[in-house]
Amino acid sequence: PVVGESMPHEAARLHVTGTALYTDDLVGRTHAVLHAYPVRGEHAHARVTRLDTTPAMSVPGVVRVLTADDVPGVNDAGTRHDEPLFPSEVMYYGHPVAWVLGETLEAARLGAQAVEVDYTDLPSLVRVTDAIEAGSYQGAQPTLERGDIDSGFSSATKVFSGEFEFAGQEHFYLETHCSLAHVDENGQIFIQSSTQHPTETQDIVSHVMGIPANAVTVQCLRMGGGFGGKEMQPHGYAAIAAIGATLTGRPVRIRLNRTQDLTMSGKRHGFHATWKVGFSDDGLLQALDATLVADGGWSIDLSEPVLARALCHIDNAYWVPNIRVHGRIAKTHKTSQTAFRGFGGPQGMLVLEDILGRCAPLLGLDPMELRRRNFYAEGQATPYGMPVRHPERMEAAWSQVMSSADVDRRQQEIAAFNATHADTKRAIAVTPVKFGISFNLTAFNQGGALVLVYKDGSVLINHGGTEMGQGLHTKMLQVAATALGVPLSTVRLAPTRTDKVANTSATAASSGTDLNGGAVKNACEQIRERLAVVASGLLGVPPRDIRFEAGIVRGLGTDAEVSWEELVNKAYFQRVQLSAAGFYRTEGLHWDATTFQGEPFKYFAYGAAATEVEVDGFTGAYTTRRVDIVHDVGDSLSPLIDLGQIEGGFVQGAGWLTLEDLRWDDRDGPTRGRLSTQAASTYKLPSFSEMPVEFNIALLDKAHEEGAVYGSKAVGEPPLMLAFSVREALRQAAGAFGPVGASVNLASPATPEAVYWAIEEARAGG
Ligand code: MTE
Ligand code: MOS
Repeated sequence: PVVGESMPHEAARLHVTGTALYTDDLVGRTHAVLHAYPVRGEHAHARVTRLDTTPAMSVPGVVRVLTADDVPGVNDAGTRHDEPLFPSEVMYYGHPVAWVLGETLEAARLGAQAVEVDYTDLPSLVRVTDAIEAGSYQGAQPTLERGDIDSGFSSATKVFSGEFEFAGQEHFYLETHCSLAHVDENGQIFIQSSTQHPTETQDIVSHVMGIPANAVTVQCLRMGGGFGGKEMQPHGYAAIAAIGATLTGRPVRIRLNRTQDLTMSGKRHGFHATWKVGFSDDGLLQALDATLVADGGWSIDLSEPVLARALCHIDNAYWVPNIRVHGRIAKTHKTSQTAFRGFGGPQGMLVLEDILGRCAPLLGLDPMELRRRNFYAEGQATPYGMPVRHPERMEAAWSQVMSSADVDRRQQEIAAFNATHADTKRAIAVTPVKFGISFNLTAFNQGGALVLVYKDGSVLINHGGTEMGQGLHTKMLQVAATALGVPLSTVRLAPTRTDKVANTSATAASSGTDLNGGAVKNACEQIRERLAVVASGLLGVPPRDIRFEAGIVRGLGTDAEVSWEELVNKAYFQRVQLSAAGFYRTEGLHWDATTFQGEPFKYFAYGAAATEVEVDGFTGAYTTRRVDIVHDVGDSLSPLIDLGQIEGGFVQGAGWLTLEDLRWDDRDGPTRGRLSTQAASTYKLPSFSEMPVEFNIALLDKAHEEGAVYGSKAVGEPPLMLAFSVREALRQAAGAFGPVGASVNLASPATPEAVYWAIEEARAGG
């Protein structure tokens, strides 16, 4: 299939038959592997006063204990120098302070138990509100500002204010963090890692080892999910494995078990927000003044760019003429929170969607009408000064979903249902998404590829992106086949490796296809141009009249043709280069992180969702009766893949907003700071029973995006935010238990318990 045609995920067959290889599957194929197990400090915050590894060495099978003394280079796993790899201070409950290498995992585990560590407890901050009270912040404190907030509020006739604290989210990728390190006779380190960012894994390993980047190669076969959780956090594990391999000369494997992964790895940031909003009489937003505090956990990690994206998305699809948003990152004694699908965008948008949901009844407007009235219009710009191009596509997605979901008629049905059911209420909510595509930091918007054509005509492509299930490799195969004019079966894709494509960006910000697709296409076009010259000689037409399609090369205006294989073979004998390095950079971007102004995004992806729920008045339990989505992917490169991303993103968003309830123990005592939800038994993920009974997804029609690869748009993250419609429908259904005009607060996640409290509030009058 060429670009635009549906095909299954390139590895779907391998996934479903259990034959796809993930990093840890390589361990069984590796000789003499050592296993690493962490020694963990079970304190929210404590100083390490004594560390004695000798008792571990008498445990049978223990080979070595790694401590700070074993670090040849820099004892730090972060990019900001605030993440000691072997810390002298425990910064969150379960922080590893040393690692034991054993002949078996069990030997390493017993060895870790035998290591003796003494701690002195230090004061700790677990709740974000405690950190705010204590003034415990880290990193930049940006302000996003446009217009005049005071005159905005004085022109507003209705002013409301509130506070909103909402939870983060566990990535719960199926494959936990994993690294396998080898060292060769020259000290060259080869690391296989489940990483979204092989180049940064390479950089961190090189710093920790004190060796140049060319002595470290990182490969990622594929990930069993990343969702942002493997953008920054795999590096430390890779570094531990690299130290172990270098010291012992043997391969070293680290794979976290599920509980370790849940309790050691960063999550989506929970936020605390305070806000004040002003509307005109007809419900138009006049002013918004807000402070957003991201709960960053113990180190800065990606909290600054996550906060930046939150600020840049607080407007969602709405024109807010006067706005001022302060951002802060709380430092708390918890795991270091990190990237998670949407990268702060969902948190920013949630604040305003929550405001609109709460204020609509107070304004006497249907929430749908309030939302639509405030959409951006042509010629308007975001608070950070970026023109909102194609706002008509937002309108188009909205009206397409309104009609395909038959919203007006169903609202009448719901009103009739609610009038006759005292203890069960239904509601339908429609919410929009506008999401900016590109990394805020302009430099990251580059991609590379290496395309090799062999003498027999077969093609091998490498690119800088990683595969985590999202279908990037599938799209890259389609791009290469289309750009070279060969059947898909001619093209094969090699695992992502830093020695094939250097200096890559993280596969993140949904930009994997834009960046790497641009680079693959560029490499293929270089090769095709050279081959066109060879074909011109064979077919007797100028190179510009040569066409490549489905493995046949033709000359316009002649019947003569030559097969791809034959042409490649001829080119080889004419000494024409059959490989090319491709490169792509997104043009037209600029961003000033100090003034918070610029045009950081290449374009916006749009979407709209209509969700109907039914809520039980006795328990707060609910079902999602029907979901309709219209989402904008430009000209889809691979419709089945895009559909899967929209479904998966939506369900993951619904999980965050309605089910997944991260809890840390914040009581004083020996388990203070401990993550209480450290297994699937206490952390509720979406499953079949929470799927919408009816789930309809359509791609927005006529959405070609000029200047993006084959007119396509990124799809990885934006659909997650379509799930606001579930939350807002739950709020409205809860409100329906009260008098008309009841404004209800709804906690996030909106678990059945939270919905029950919202119902009680509505019953009390709102
Ligand atoms: N889809 C699957 N199946 N697994 C994942 O881990 N990660 C998401 C999204 N979709 C993810 C996924 C995130 S957070 C991002 S940024 C994008 O995929 C990254 O890939 P892309 O840039 O190729 O879209
Ligand atoms: Mo995605 S959160 O940008 O890895």
